[in-house]
Amino acid sequence: MFGTMPKLKIGKLTAKTPIIQGGMGVGISLSGLSSAVANEGGIGVIAAVGLGMAGSNNLDKIYEENARQLQNEIRIARKKSNGLIGVNIMMALSDHENLLKVTVEAKADLALVGAGLLLKLPPTIEKLGIENIHTEFVPIVSSGRAAKIIFKQWAKRYNTVPSAVVVEGPLAGGHLGFKAEALNNPNNNLKSLLADVLVAVQPFKETFNKPIPVIVAGGVYSGADIYNFLRAGASGVQMATRFVATHECDADIGFKEAFVECKKDDMIIIKSPVGLPGRAINNKFLESVEQGNKKPFKCPWKCLHTCDVNTAPYCIANALISARKGRLKSGFAFAGSNAYKIDKIISVKELVETIKTEYKTESMIKRKLSKSDIHISIQPDYCANQRVVSAI
Ligand SMILES: Cc1cc2nc3c(=O)[nH]c(=O)nc-3n(C[C@H](O)[C@H](O)[C@H](O)COP(=O)(O)O)c2cc1C
Repeated sequence: MFGTMPKLKIGKLTAKTPIIQGGMGVGISLSGLSSAVANEGGIGVIAAVGLGMAGSNNLDKIYEENARQLQNEIRIARKKSNGLIGVNIMMALSDHENLLKVTVEAKADLALVGAGLLLKLPPTIEKLGIENIHTEFVPIVSSGRAAKIIFKQWAKRYNTVPSAVVVEGPLAGGHLGFKAEALNNPNNNLKSLLADVLVAVQPFKETFNKPIPVIVAGGVYSGADIYNFLRAGASGVQMATRFVATHECDADIGFKEAFVECKKDDMIIIKSPVGLPGRAINNKFLESVEQGNKKPFKCPWKCLHTCDVNTAPYCIANALISARKGRLKSGFAFAGSNAYKIDKIISVKELVETIKTEYKTESMIKRKLSKSDIHISIQPDYCANQRVVSAI
């Protein structure tokens, strides 16, 4: 129907609304938010990072606890919703293989894998045979080049390719897949990255005779944005920041209020201890780090491969867990570039309805514009016997 968002098909799965709620660690998107999004027809995503650390003090058995908590969150999300539930796993996590295994065993609908290239699956999953697995694998990339590398490896190794790919641009929240100096490079705007990824996956679509939807992420805020990205060739969007300010988001109210209260100038790029730039909301904690103050910590486990525990000025996991609990004095909130636009906390249902209305309005505006283009482009010579002339 005109003005209605199309469905998003990923492999054997169909989402009624082409919105994937981006995974947000640590503990920001769990069963509460993901099930609410799934109930509205989108794809709800549980972030797998640091769940054991957030939920338990049993640091000796942290990997087991991470796995147990993830299983638990998937189980609860399934109880609350019959919709599509995915899990976000970062390759940079030292236990990513185990988390992938848990995701597959728990029959989550999707595994969205970023912060590193998903070149191959853990042996335990390979053994099962990809065709026998319920979970659809969706890599998250920052360039057409990265997509091509992953798809080429999969084609060679598995004689198949992932069912979809998310391309995340530099306006996203959290750790960013770009060097700091590349963040403002105009070639890295999301529309250009989308075009690059569409080109990169085209040969694989043809070889394997399957659709490979490309989903855009990073700074997608309104229904109008969705309309315009779909027109540019995307099949769906991944949105995170806007879902923080919802009643169902799994973070403390203090975390959500930081999103409502922040201003445009508060949105900053930080140099994360794990060696990547990240986008966050500035606060006293980050100002203090910027002034060179260290926050001494003991590392019970090296959660991220890339973290240099000896030089890190603070523990990023501790800082993010504190923020999640609303203790922003000892932590900070990651957020996408548009967080400052949020002015209230609403339900996921209201948010999805609002986005649908924004989408419809934009489609009507664009339709009116294209009609007036047609009108302008009518050539007098043809007017006598031919009404429709090509739109500009
Ligand atoms: C608070 C927060 C935490 C995030 N945590 C993760 C994460 O654990 N893993 C990941 O791959 N991406 C993470 N992201 C990125 C989102 O999944 C998403 O792709 C991105 O933020 C989309 O851009 P948007 O926030 O402008 O909608 C996080 C983003 C935010 C805002």
